[in-house]
This record gives sequence, structure tokens and C-alpha cells, in this order.
Amino acid sequence: MEDYKTVPYSQTTLTELMIPSYSNFGGKVHGGIILGLMDKVAYACAAKHAGNYCVTVSVDTVNFLAPVEVGELVSLLASVNYVGNSSIVIGIRVQTENIKTKEIKHTNSSYFTMVAMGEDHMPAKVPGLILQTRTEIKRFYEAYHRKELAKYYNQEQARIKNDSEIEEALRLISNERCRIELTEG
Ligand SMILES: CC(C)(COP(=O)(O)OP(=O)(O)OC[C@H]1O[C@@H](n2cnc3c(N)ncnc32)[C@H](O)[C@@H]1OP(=O)(O)O)[C@@H](O)C(=O)NCCC(=O)NCCS
Repeated sequence: MEDYKTVPYSQTTLTELMIPSYSNFGGKVHGGIILGLMDKVAYACAAKHAGNYCVTVSVDTVNFLAPVEVGELVSLLASVNYVGNSSIVIGIRVQTENIKTKEIKHTNSSYFTMVAMGEDHMPAKVPGLILQTRTEIKRFYEAYHRKELAKYYNQEQARIKNDSEIEEALRLISNERCRIELTEG
């Protein structure tokens, strides 16, 4: 019989104190530190659902909505939003807590696609997902929809990479802040 797991089964929270060595030249926490923590929590959540080793294949938009300060506690909340055959989409919400004021800030959210790998180093089938709440159904559907949009996006990207579209490209970027100074024939 096919294996299915619930969303709470693999839900994972990672909390880390932002120490001074994490800061950038502006005194805020370096974005790469947050990205690294996001990858770590996505891995833990995906591997738990899959019961297997996983790799990161794609990250769907990371917008930093507010800076993260040194001294804050950062919590990353991860849960499985969607499963394919061997892929798992993990939704991650990042929030910070000011230890003194207790103020909680939502700094960013993102979706990491992880693929489970078998002993043969090939993508391995993952358990299905049991959806128990309306929110879980909504998140699953949203991930399905993003996957459909990604197919369209990839087709468009392939189309505009074609050199024959250069005339159209010149027309579309004509109001952008660039100056064409061709150095080739
Ligand atoms: C993961 C990997 C083995 C997949 O290889 P592949 O040839 O694309 O394999 P498949 O076509 O069978 O795809 C496997 C799954 O990955 C998904 N996938 C592949 N590329 C993807 C992408 N860019 N975005 C989202 N999903 C993707 C496929 O949709 C498929 O999902 P499904 O099984 O649920 O239908 C390969 O892309 C890889 O090794 N990538 C490097 C991963 C890595 O090392 N990450 C760490 C970087 S430091």
C-alpha cells in the first residue's frame, strides 16, 4: 500500500541567535546567513517526510521584507506544502524576535523544492501527503499552481533566449536605463 504522511509529521522549526559575526558592513545580518538557515530547515523537513537524503533543486523567490538585527532570535518554520513523485516543496516562514521587547517581525517567506535521493543516487519516490486542514489544501494548491506557472515561465525564458528576438528585445527595453553601444557586427 502507498505510504502517506501528514504535514505535522515533518513540521520543523529552527531557532538561532543572530551573533555579531553574522553582520554585514551595514551592521545588519547578512542575507546569506538567512539563506543558509533556510536551506538547513528545508532539508530537515524534507528529509523527515521522505525518510531519505534530499537535495535542494530550486528556490522560489526570496524577498527580504525587513532587516534582521544582530541580537535577535530568528525562527524558521518549515512545513511540507506539496509533494510530487520525488520532489517536495517546503514552505518556510522566517520571523525574528527582539529578546527585550518581544516584538515579532516577519522578515521573509519562501518555497524550497527538494528532491529525495535513493541509495542509487537517483531521485526516489516520496510518501504522499495527507491534507487535514483548509490551509494545507490551499498551500498544496498554491504550490501546484506555481509549478504550472514555472512551466510557462521556462518556456518564455527559452523563447527570449533565441537571438532572432533581438529586435523585439530592443523595442521592449527602449525605455529602460540602458544605452546601446554595440561593439560587435
Ligand atoms: C535533483 C536532480 C537529481 C534531479 O535530476 P533530474 O534529471 O531533473 O531528475 P528528474 O527529471 O527525474 O526530476 C526529479 C524531480 O525534480 C524536479 N525538478 C527538477 N528540476 C527542478 C527545478 N528546477 N525546479 C523544481 N523541480 C525540479 C522534477 O520536477 C521531478 O519532480 P517529481 O519527481 O516530483 O516529478 C538533479 O537536478 C541534481 O542533481 N541537481 C543538483 C542538486 C544539488 O546538488 N543541490 C545542492 C546544490 S549545492
